[in-house]
Amino acid sequence: MKLLEWYKTYKRKLPWRDYVTPYRTWISETMLQQTQVQTVLPYFERFMKRFPDITALAHANENDVLKLWAGLGYYSRARNLHQAARKISDSGGEIPQTIEDLRRLPGIGPYTAAAISSIAFSQPHALVDGNVARVFARLLAIKENIKSTKTQKRIWKLAELYLDRNHPGDWNQALMELGALICTPEAPLCVQCPWQQTCKVYAKGLQNLIPNVGLKKAMISLAWTAMKAEK
Ligand code: ADE
Repeated sequence: MKLLEWYKTYKRKLPWRDYVTPYRTWISETMLQQTQVQTVLPYFERFMKRFPDITALAHANENDVLKLWAGLGYYSRARNLHQAARKISDSGGEIPQTIEDLRRLPGIGPYTAAAISSIAFSQPHALVDGNVARVFARLLAIKENIKSTKTQKRIWKLAELYLDRNHPGDWNQALMELGALICTPEAPLCVQCPWQQTCKVYAKGLQNLIPNVGLKKAMISLAWTAMKAEK
């Protein structure tokens, strides 16, 4: 099955997908960094009610923004959002479309710039987060530590190579969704995977060894599995 077809059929219904604007994409992608979708949902809804657009956010008091963020963690994300909103508001109020302009804003790194430009502006930019990295590591049986700078660079290049340039936003979200729903860190649901036929790790039965997450993380994961087995 083609990845985009799979995505259209199985994607989760999420508020930032129902109605896409650059602002909503920016806020949701920022919240989703280091945070699970289920945790983000109520925060996203509250944030949108309180600060429905850039102007509202730019004029807010920093403490009010931080209050709405309480519990989500990584508070620099909220401070950066607020500062970026002020910068955008001061320069005309439009969220920039290009990666280069997006990267000039506080808190916007390679991932968020690519997410906003591809999802909200259909610009052909690939992105890699933890889910996407795991999908590529398994698809191509990449044995090196997935966290190493070298492997990360390699996976970003692969993501560029595989990108569907006609549907970059859906493509990127489909890869993230595949990692979140099917190609999970433990017990991946390979029988339901649209890429099963071409997946190198599936062919070799190495799902538990790849991605290689480094020794320390691997030991913790092993200990967890052993503990669960005892129960
Ligand atoms: N994780 C971060 N952003 C996401 C998105 N747009 N879709 C699925 N998972 C995500």
